[in-house]
Amino acid sequence: MNSPSPARAHGPLALRPRHIFSLLEQRFPDENVMFQSVMPPTGIGSMTLLEGAILASLIRLLEAKNIFEFGTFQGHGSVLLAVNSAPEARIVTLDFDPAARPAAADHAPAASTANDSFLRDVHAAGGAPCIARAAPALQRKITQIACDSHTLDLDAHDLRKRFDLIFIDGGHDAATVRNDTRKAFDMACDGAAIVWHDYGSAVHSDVTDYVDELSATLPLVHVEATMLVLYWPALNTALAHTGAK
Ligand SMILES: C[S@@+](CC[C@H](N)C(=O)[O-])C[C@H]1O[C@@H](n2cnc3c(N)ncnc32)[C@H](O)[C@@H]1O
Repeated sequence: MNSPSPARAHGPLALRPRHIFSLLEQRFPDENVMFQSVMPPTGIGSMTLLEGAILASLIRLLEAKNIFEFGTFQGHGSVLLAVNSAPEARIVTLDFDPAARPAAADHAPAASTANDSFLRDVHAAGGAPCIARAAPALQRKITQIACDSHTLDLDAHDLRKRFDLIFIDGGHDAATVRNDTRKAFDMACDGAAIVWHDYGSAVHSDVTDYVDELSATLPLVHVEATMLVLYWPALNTALAHTGAK
């Protein structure tokens, strides 16, 4: 939603987008690998085309059938995940219950930025119009959960250890990124990838600080020219064979 900041001195390994696309070329040498997206919305809160192409690439490389998204907002990400996955794939996306507005989340009143409040208000007022406008076949792939991620009950929603790809793009305050990350690891199946958005954002510095902290113990990769950071151990192995920097 914001321009990436310059590279940082520490944190995830930096990787050029073309290295991800090169893995696709190697995996599908006889195919024109396609990617679809609605035109990028002009308002804040959604991802760029390049970020969408990276996520679509991950879906193909992982053959992801179960995908979870923290932060539905207007549904552009959910539709991108749905349209670029196999027909049998399922996307579960989480956002606040619109009816709960204006009851403010009690976990981060001060750290909750004006930006996050705005996004929450937009979702509360209009739901996810991009999902509502999508073709029925895509809508059927998407399940929306309406609750605060801090109170998300993984057992009640049967979310444990079953997702191949988890996209963390919900609240950007430190407490929420930490909560969503902890839950993402509980929801991930073996071999899964976890992706954070807004790394390097000039607005959401908590995301950058937290991901930098995580990178001390996890093999994280920042895709240059995007605000995406990937945790996918198999990627590091594959890249080692390509000689990527
Ligand atoms: C950046 S937007 C998501 C954009 C979306 N992933 C896309 O690609 O189009 C962030 C969303 O996260 C939601 N959010 C923030 N904190 C949350 C929380 N604690 N629980 C659930 N949703 C939250 C906001 O309401 C907002 O709609």
